[in-house]
Amino acid sequence: MALELPIYMDNNATTPVDPRVLDAMLPYFQGKFGNAASRSHSFGWAAEDAVAKARKQVSSLIGASPKEIIWTSGSTEACNLAIKGVAEMYGKPRTDDGACRGHIITTAYEHKAVLDPCKRLQREGFDVSWIDPQENGIITAEQVAEQIREDTILVTVMWANNEIGTINEIEKIGKLCKEKGILFFTDATQAVGKITVNVEEAGVDLLCGSAHKIYGPKGAGFLYVRRRKPRVRLSPIIDGGGHERGMRSGTLNVPGIVGLGEACEIAGKEMVEETKKLSALRDKLIDGIVSQLDMAVLNGDKEKRLPQTANISFPYVEGESLMMAMKDIAVSSGSACTSASLEPSYVLKSLGLGDELAHSSIRFGLSRWSTEEEVDYVVDKVVKAVEHLLAMSPLYDMVKEGIDLSTVEWGSH
Ligand SMILES: Cc1ncc(COP(=O)(O)O)c(C=O)c1O
Repeated sequence: MALELPIYMDNNATTPVDPRVLDAMLPYFQGKFGNAASRSHSFGWAAEDAVAKARKQVSSLIGASPKEIIWTSGSTEACNLAIKGVAEMYGKPRTDDGACRGHIITTAYEHKAVLDPCKRLQREGFDVSWIDPQENGIITAEQVAEQIREDTILVTVMWANNEIGTINEIEKIGKLCKEKGILFFTDATQAVGKITVNVEEAGVDLLCGSAHKIYGPKGAGFLYVRRRKPRVRLSPIIDGGGHERGMRSGTLNVPGIVGLGEACEIAGKEMVEETKKLSALRDKLIDGIVSQLDMAVLNGDKEKRLPQTANISFPYVEGESLMMAMKDIAVSSGSACTSASLEPSYVLKSLGLGDELAHSSIRFGLSRWSTEEEVDYVVDKVVKAVEHLLAMSPLYDMVKEGIDLSTVEWGSH
C-alpha cells in the first residue's frame, strides 16, 4: 500500500475512531436517541439497554463488575471526581486553626487532570506529598511506602505515564495500600485497552479511562469505584438529577458510552496481537533512531513501557524546530495537552533531565493502524532532520571539538 502523508504518530494525545466503534454508535444519534433515564417508553428502554451493555463491556475489560462503573465526560472529570470525591468524603472538615484535613500521596509527573485537583486540595487544607519518579521513569511501591503517614487518606499514582510511556509498580502499590487500609486511585487513561488492567489483581479502589485514547469518541470516559472490600464512597462534584447512583448527575451521553463500550470490547479481543505488533514497531522506531544518532537518548525504561509509546531526546536540537522540520509527521514535543506553552516538559524534568534535554524531546505514539513503512519513513525523516539541525548548531560543534559545555563561561558584553 502506498504511504499516505501526513503520518499521524501522536496517538497518546488522541486516536481516530475505529470504524467498528462508529458503526455501533450511529443508531444512538437518531433512531435510538432516547434518554437512558426515561423509564416510561421504549426509546428510553433502548438507550438504557445500550448503556447496560456498555457497562458490561467496560467492566469486563478491567475485571470489575458493571455496577462499579460511573460514566463521565472523560478522564479529566473522572480524576477530579475520584480525588475531590475521596477528599471530601474521607477528609476532616476545615477548621479555623488550619489543622491538616488529611494527607494525599501523588507523583510529580501525573497528568494535569490529577496534579491540579491535588494542588487545589492543598490550598484547601490537605497535605500533599509529590513523589519524583526514578531516573528510569518508574514509581516504585517503596517510594510510596516512604511517604505513608497515619493520616494518609489517598494514594494516587498513574498506571502508565502519557508522555514517556513507562509503567509503574501498580500491583505492588495496590498491595501496600490494602495492607495500610488506604484508598488507591490510579489514572489508567493510557493503560486501559493497551495492556492488561485488572482492578482485582492490582488492588485498586478507583481507576479511570477515556474513550478517545482507545479508538473511541471524545467526551466519554469512566470511573471505576470499588463496591466491595472496601465499599468506596465518594462525594459528588456535580449535583443534579442523581444519575449514576448519585455520584455523577447529568443525562448520559448514550452514543459516546456505546462507543466507549465497543472500543473496550475490541481492545480486549485484540490486545494480545496488537501488543505484539506495536511493541515490535516501537522497538524498530527506537532502535532505528538511536542506532543512527549517537546523541539520541530514549527517555524512560526500555522494557517497562507501553507498547505504542517512545519518547526520545535529541540534545542540542530544539524539539519545536525539529517538529517544524518534519511537517508531514504528526508527533508532539512534551505532552499534547501542555504543548501550547514552550515550558520544558515537567514530566521529563521530574526524571532529572535538564531544561535542554527536556526541550529537545519528541513523543511518538503508534496506533492500531501504524505500519512498518510508516515507521521506516519516520525514522529516516527524524534522522535527516536532526542531522540537518545539528549541522547548524554551534553548541554541537563545540561538543565535537571535545569542549565540556558545563565548564564554558558564557560571557555577556
Ligand atoms: C494520563 C492521562 N490522564 C488524563 C487525561 C485526560 O483525559 P481526557 O482527555 O479524557 O479528559 C489524559 C489525556 O491526555 C492522559 O493522558
